[in-house]
Amino acid sequence: MNEVLVGAAKAEVDKKGFLDLELDPELDLFAEIERLKKQKNAIVLAHYYQEPDIQDVADYIGDSLGLAQKAEATNADMIVFAGVHFMAETAKILNPTKKVVIPDLLAGCSLSDSCPPPLFEQFKKQYPDHLVISYINCSAGIKALSDIICTSSNAQKIVESLPPEQKIIFAPDKNLGAYINKVTGRNMVLWNGACMVHEIFSVEKITKLKMRHSNAKVIAHPECEEPVLRLADFIGSTTQLLKYSMTDSSNEYIVATETGILHQMMKSSPQKTFIPAPPNNSCACNDCPHMKRNTLEKIYLCMEYETPEIMMDEELRLAAKKPIDKMLELSAQFGL
Ligand code: 13P
Ligand code: SF4
Repeated sequence: MNEVLVGAAKAEVDKKGFLDLELDPELDLFAEIERLKKQKNAIVLAHYYQEPDIQDVADYIGDSLGLAQKAEATNADMIVFAGVHFMAETAKILNPTKKVVIPDLLAGCSLSDSCPPPLFEQFKKQYPDHLVISYINCSAGIKALSDIICTSSNAQKIVESLPPEQKIIFAPDKNLGAYINKVTGRNMVLWNGACMVHEIFSVEKITKLKMRHSNAKVIAHPECEEPVLRLADFIGSTTQLLKYSMTDSSNEYIVATETGILHQMMKSSPQKTFIPAPPNNSCACNDCPHMKRNTLEKIYLCMEYETPEIMMDEELRLAAKKPIDKMLELSAQFGL
C-alpha cells in the first residue's frame, strides 16, 4: 500500500472515507506513522480530545489556539490534522500551499453546525453597528462573516481589548458568550449555538460526586452551561485546565469537558485522580462523537494515501483568513 490515490478513487475516499480498506492486523501503526512522517515531511497535530493512541503518536497536542499557531508556523509539507473539520480547515486557511489531510472528513462539530452561514448573515443584518467575534468552532463561511476569531484561551482578553462602548455579536457558542459577558461585564449579542458534549453534564450528579469526594475540585470548560460553571473551582480552555491540574495543590479533580483531556492530565500528574464529570444519562456522552471518529488506522491511511484532503475556494479562504490573522496578532500581543 504505497501508491497515492488519484482521480475517481481519491474522490470516492474523500466522500466516504476508508470504509472498504482492511489493514493487516499485524501492521505496527505507530512505526508506520513515524515512517510516513519522515518520508513525506509530515506533521501530526492532535487536539486533546483525541483518543490516547493518537495523542501519543502526535508531534504536537494542543487546544484550538495552540493548534492554529502550530499549523501556521510549521515547515512540514503535509499537515495531518487529528481533530475535527473546522480545525483542519483553519490549518488550510493559514497554509494554502501545504497539503492538509484529515483522518475522517465526516468529523464535524455540533457547535459549528449550529450556525449555518446564510442564517447568520441574516442575523448579523439586524445589528449593523456591531463587531462580530466568532469562536473558532465555526465554518469558514462564518469566519468570513466575522471581524475577529477567538478561542476559549483568548476570548476574554480579545473582548477586553475592545473599547467598552463597542457593540459586539458573539457566535456561535451561547455558553462561552454568556460566560465572557459575565466576566467582562459586557452585553454581547449571542448566537444561540452550543456544543452537544458540554451541554450534557448533570449538575445533580456533579453535586453528589462532590459530596463523595469532598477534596475534589471541579474544573470546567467554558462551553458548559452556566449551572455547571457555577459549581466550578476553575474555568478554562483545555490547555488552561491541563496547566491548572499540574500546578494546583489538590489531588483530585472532577473534569467537566470531553474525556480525551484526561490522558494528558494523568500523564502529567500520575499521582493525582481525575474523574470525568458525569453526563445526565447513562451513555458515554462526554466523548465527542466527532473527535472520536478519528482512529490510529485512519491516521495511517490518510498519511499513506494523502486523502481526504481539505480543499478550499480561494475567495472564501482569503475572507476567512482575515479574522484568524487578527486573532493570531492579538494573541501574540497578549503573550499567548
Ligand atoms: P479548546 O481546544 O479551545 O479548549 O476548545 C475545546 C473544544 O471544544 C474544541 O472542539
Ligand atoms: Fe464540537 Fe463540542 Fe466536539 Fe468540540 S467537543 S468538536 S465543540 S462537538
